[in-house]
Amino acid sequence: TVTRFILALILSGLFSSSFAKLATFQHFRIVYGQSLARVRSITEVPVKDTADRDTDAMQSDVSFEHVTFAYPNKKDRALSDVSLQFPKGSHTAIVGESGSGKSTLASLMMGFWQPQSGTVRLGGENLAELSERNIADFFSIVQQEVFLFNTSIRDNIRIGKPSATQREVETAARKARIHDFIVGLPSGYDTSAGEVGVKFSGGEKQRISIARMLLKDSPIVILDEATAALDGENEKLIQEALDELQRNKTVFTIA
Ligand SMILES: Nc1ncnc2c1ncn2[C@@H]1O[C@H](COP(=O)(O)OP(=O)(O)O)[C@@H](O)[C@H]1O
Ligand SMILES: [Mg+2]
Repeated sequence: TVTRFILALILSGLFSSSFAKLATFQHFRIVYGQSLARVRSITEVPVKDTADRDTDAMQSDVSFEHVTFAYPNKKDRALSDVSLQFPKGSHTAIVGESGSGKSTLASLMMGFWQPQSGTVRLGGENLAELSERNIADFFSIVQQEVFLFNTSIRDNIRIGKPSATQREVETAARKARIHDFIVGLPSGYDTSAGEVGVKFSGGEKQRISIARMLLKDSPIVILDEATAALDGENEKLIQEALDELQRNKTVFTIA
């Protein structure tokens, strides 16, 4: 049985942010590990030189121990002395006003930023001592804004697992409730996401990104206001896709 934690976090912080783009780039950097140089120049986040190691035996629990964090260009703290424990396999809802630090909590968990004081642990290990790749292997994040690359739908899904076969890509797409849509495109899985005349709705992009995450099959899933911008579009399909993604995972749902 999965432990279900419903947790309301009312955290400090008053200003809403215009950092959606930046957050996407950070996500891109950590999850896919590409275009590092470019991202580095945008975010000015110091890149760690910690060596990769074998994390097969590591558990997928997360804990925050007296974590305090302020963004480099801000004097107000985004998180102040936060201590939380999220057991392996638990499902947690993170609820709070806009600007209260929900996405920051997720960013710290994924090692995008280092706390000024306190410790974030993944499977009991200090996140600061794990490599970016090691951390990235643990996490999948579904955000409001989905970024598709100007390449085929197949390759867009395969980013989740570059070695995946067509059969694996299709299985993930079926679970993400997007397979039928893809086969209806002019060139099916070979259709380019940037093709003139091919426009995807927010919900379709969302399901493509969910297929990506299903292929990746990481033990921890973060849904950061994943459906907030979708206006009820294909709600049932998206919910089914998200349900597939959460199966047997440690889950954070930012509402
Ligand atoms: N990349 C950033 N740089 C500077 N300040 C940021 C950044 N991201 C968020 N903030 C600020 O940190 C606080 C918490 O933001 P955030 O974690 O995005 O809140 P939430 O996800 O709960 O809406 C806000 O004051 C926000 O303006
Ligand atoms: Mg947020």
